[in-house]
Amino acid sequence: MSAPGWPTRLASGTVEVRPLRARDLRAWCEVRTRNESWLAPWEGRPPSQRPTTWRERNSPAVFSAMLRAQRKEARAGRQLPFAVTVAGELRGAITVAGITRGAFDSAHVGYWVDQAVAGRGVAPTALALVLDHCFGPVGLHRVEANVRPENGPSLRVVRKLGFTQEALHRRYLFIDEAWRDHRSFALLADDLPAGVLATLLTG
Ligand SMILES: CC(C)(COP(=O)(O)OP(=O)(O)OC[C@H]1O[C@@H](n2cnc3c(N)ncnc32)[C@H](O)[C@@H]1OP(=O)(O)O)[C@@H](O)C(=O)NCCC(=O)NCCS
Repeated sequence: MSAPGWPTRLASGTVEVRPLRARDLRAWCEVRTRNESWLAPWEGRPPSQRPTTWRERNSPAVFSAMLRAQRKEARAGRQLPFAVTVAGELRGAITVAGITRGAFDSAHVGYWVDQAVAGRGVAPTALALVLDHCFGPVGLHRVEANVRPENGPSLRVVRKLGFTQEALHRRYLFIDEAWRDHRSFALLADDLPAGVLATLLTG
């Protein structure tokens, strides 16, 4: 069984999004381990589990388990788990998760990039590709992004992409050992009639 719009590869210039694959293991562990101080303040963990080190959370075993879980979710049409590459090198990820159909047709999106490529528009470009795909072949009506008020770079990204803030979720995700408030943004399928990437590129 295959889900609408999955799997797929999408590209703009040197930025590409594609499914994560088993041979990404070494690159994924390397980029994640190297970016601990860059990523840890923004990534949650289940509070019911014992705290683990960053290295434990980004080990080859965790990568393999994550890949298996993501593939199962993608086949069931509940996730679109994209790797982000720049000039063919693994530099980040975008996960559209919580895909809910019926009268809702909605999802939320999470994203990160390697600090080494930060500030070059990689995340906005990759997200624009993914969002156009969500509102096209996948058939979603709404995609939400939840951002900590302290996360200046991520707030810039949702702004560049035309998201609208709709709510403040109190103590929303367990991150960095505490429940953290998040600003909740959404982009709807008909918000940008010219398309997300086209609107981003024409500024
Ligand atoms: C949020 C994130 C994905 C943005 O990716 P990006 O590809 O750098 O996005 P942009 O190039 O559009 O830069 C966004 C903003 O980051 C800031 N920035 C620019 N260069 C930077 C650098 N070298 N280092 C840190 N931040 C930088 C700027 O405020 C920029 O906004 P501007 O273009 O208006 O100046 C990235 O910062 C990241 O992975 N952060 C850690 C994980 C995270 O926060 N994920 C999102 C959780 S909601």
